[in-house]
Amino acid sequence: MKDLSYKTESFTESVIREMTRICDDVGGLNLSQGFPDFDAPEEIKKAAIDAIRNGFNQYPVTFGEPEFREAIAKKVQDYNKITCDPATDITVTCGATEAMMSTLMALINPSDEIIIFEPYYENYGPDSILSGATPRYVTLYPPDWNYDKDELAAAFNDKTKAIIINTPNNPTGKVFTKHELEEIAELCMKHDCYAITDEIYEHILYDDAKHVSLGSLHGMEDRTITINGLTKTYSVTGWRIGWAIASERITQRIRKVHDFLTVGGPTPFQHAGLTALAMPESYYEQLASGYYAAREFLFHTLKEVGFKPFLPRGAYYIMVDIDDLMEQLSAYDDFTFSRKLIEKTGVATVPGTSFYANGSKGKNQVRFTYCKKMDTLRQVREKLLSLV
Ligand SMILES: Cc1ncc(COP(=O)(O)O)c(C=O)c1O
Repeated sequence: MKDLSYKTESFTESVIREMTRICDDVGGLNLSQGFPDFDAPEEIKKAAIDAIRNGFNQYPVTFGEPEFREAIAKKVQDYNKITCDPATDITVTCGATEAMMSTLMALINPSDEIIIFEPYYENYGPDSILSGATPRYVTLYPPDWNYDKDELAAAFNDKTKAIIINTPNNPTGKVFTKHELEEIAELCMKHDCYAITDEIYEHILYDDAKHVSLGSLHGMEDRTITINGLTKTYSVTGWRIGWAIASERITQRIRKVHDFLTVGGPTPFQHAGLTALAMPESYYEQLASGYYAAREFLFHTLKEVGFKPFLPRGAYYIMVDIDDLMEQLSAYDDFTFSRKLIEKTGVATVPGTSFYANGSKGKNQVRFTYCKKMDTLRQVREKLLSLV
């Protein structure tokens, strides 16, 4: 039979799925995949049920229900300091995932390059391949996950079409500072390229970390595509509601791609999104303080067991150095380590190399997530302590 697509040939099965399968086989605790094991707030669930009962069950306006786009515009004005017109600058998508894909397809031409910080959120690799972009990677170095300014500057060239920034960051927990974002903005303006920022964890911040949206910086208004969604802030990973905010010129293209790819994000959940976006300030404080407690617990547990964890300042993942435990588990790299850890303790993690294009960089790292109930994390501690 004729060949299947060359573009998708190199895609591997998601490592997270593989870890989840092994974890399920041994009845373990899954700290590999970033979805909460607790439920969304009652009022948000009720709003979705009401929306379905009230007849919001047919196709939405392709690029988003008008009331929902208005609510998003208000929210980004207040929280992100981005001014946008809901009529022309917002596209509601099937999750941030689709927002990223539609954005790249709207921007990329053959031979265009995009800059990606690594370690990176797994999807950005296949996203570049599907869109036809050639990725150039710029390393974030532990323990603080800073980049080297010269390395970043050297990654830009005439072919650079866009840079992807994810802040707060998965998998590192890095929160880009205003100063760093200003440096990035300057390079984008100098080389006339776009910035695509994935801000899906914007409300999950610790210590004194502040979320700054690149799109709010002077000069970046018309060249930034800001991606976000309901997914992480309201613990509704299954709803599949995200959005992309960009100038009218860019939005027109994103909307076209989006229309042909998915037609629209689920109608009832867009209406329920009105309730979500109207949650009081105390909701966001509780969200962050809940995750702070989980971060503290897991971070100290990991240290107690002998890992070297890198303290995250946002999002809900911890990258750890596994060097000191490698021998104990008779592992020789991150993959064998993750497999043996599940077999021995029942705790599933993601091997570090999954987050790097140059796999050798992640060979002594694995990622844990802590978007789990404290009770689950206490069980994790019991299981991991069997290693001590
Ligand atoms: C950085 C980042 N962006 C996007 C997503 C996916 O967002 P959504 O579920 O809204 O498509 C995730 C999920 O883990 C993520 O970590």
